[in-house]
Amino acid sequence: MAEDPQLTVGVPTETFPGEARVALVPGVLQALSKAGMKTIVESGAGQAAGFPDAEYEEKGATIGTRAEAFGADVVLQVQTFGANPEKGRDDLSLMRKDQVIIGLTDPLGNAAGVQEMAKTGATILSIELMPRITRAQSMDVLSSQATVGGYKAVLVAAANMPKMFPMLTTAAGTVRPAKVFVIGAGVAGLQAIATAKRLGAVVQAYDVRAAVKEQVVSVGAKFVEMELEAGEAEDKGGYAKEMGEDFLRKQRELMTSVVENIDVVITTAAIPGKKSPVLITEEMVKKMQPGSVIVDLAAERGGNCELTKANETIVVNDVTIMGPTNLPATVPYHASSMYAKNLVTFLTHLVKDGAFQWDMEDQITVETLLARDGEVVLPRLREALGLEAPSAATAETPGPAKPDGTAELRVAPPEGTSNGAVKPETAAS
Ligand code: NAI
Repeated sequence: MAEDPQLTVGVPTETFPGEARVALVPGVLQALSKAGMKTIVESGAGQAAGFPDAEYEEKGATIGTRAEAFGADVVLQVQTFGANPEKGRDDLSLMRKDQVIIGLTDPLGNAAGVQEMAKTGATILSIELMPRITRAQSMDVLSSQATVGGYKAVLVAAANMPKMFPMLTTAAGTVRPAKVFVIGAGVAGLQAIATAKRLGAVVQAYDVRAAVKEQVVSVGAKFVEMELEAGEAEDKGGYAKEMGEDFLRKQRELMTSVVENIDVVITTAAIPGKKSPVLITEEMVKKMQPGSVIVDLAAERGGNCELTKANETIVVNDVTIMGPTNLPATVPYHASSMYAKNLVTFLTHLVKDGAFQWDMEDQITVETLLARDGEVVLPRLREALGLEAPSAATAETPGPAKPDGTAELRVAPPEGTSNGAVKPETAAS
């Protein structure tokens, strides 16, 4: 009897400007081969992250060209065309039907780009739409990358201020510890607090979700109490809800007195798919200490500081305002390692017995599946694109072929649910 043909997994080099990460690292290849998958890595794909071709080969991968990597049954990327619309355009001609593409796709920021990808016929899964549920924590790249981003934000702040972080008592005098204020104590914020603490700063933090107070305290910061009625600040997916303008105005007023005495402000307050709320106005910046630094992690969607310019560092009234949008790429070794682990966990969740199993009762599959058979299928993305509900034909056609030419049957999402998700799950804490 002939051996089962294996699914092939391709890893192209990232082309987004400044992107040094790679979707798979050599350390995870064994898990893929155990699951019956063979890897083809574009030559040099891991170089910038510290993983030379030889290390992939040692772990059983084949090194090939970009076209060969895109020729695989599954293509794993950090930033697919959706998230990399300029440099990634050439990849569209390499994508094909009967192929699965997994990576960051920016569906909420670039719906039209995802639609272009969809037209190639490939099945596209957006890893950034991973639901924040306990079961999916090990597949959540936004969390793993935010951990790296929060860490690095503190380091860039430290490197850009005229003071030191730790308290020092020396023969040359005493140095007072830096005062750091972290706004938004989600994944990035908590890691920023922990990092600032490790460097010796005195840290304060604030979040609209009162539930995070305990976590803030447990990583060593003081939780700033504000007399604000946040109400239900968290949605069912474990993310913050958008607050009204009245709330934000009051918050800014209360926060002014805090930022006046702070050396470093790290802002991470984000609402998925929405413009970031403005928490620090120009007026507030003018009241800050000369030499203080703001690192605005929410820069990509407008920023939490009114003056932030994405990917730029500006100085206003002696306050340095930094708007980096891809800090994880500046720590590519570990950012890639974590990303790769998330991706492999996701892939092995989807593939059983050497073929994709499209379980449309699985919240993880339903919420990350963007497109298949030439059509965008995610309801909220279809809505954003002004498209009708998916046609019956697309909703129940066979999935990408198994390598032996057969296909798994797909089941349409049940009617009457907004996104096909059926089983409400507990949000991850
Ligand atoms: P998260 O959702 O875990 O945390 C965001 C936190 O902000 C939540 O706890 C939320 O309650 C809080 N928040 C929302 N509105 C607020 C308000 N008005 N006042 C105070 N707190 C508020 O998100 P995560 O994973 O920590 O990421 C945070 C941000 O950092 C995201 O925008 C993400 O894209 C960005 N990020 C940026 C990187 C970069 O290089 N610039 C790298 C990694 C993440």
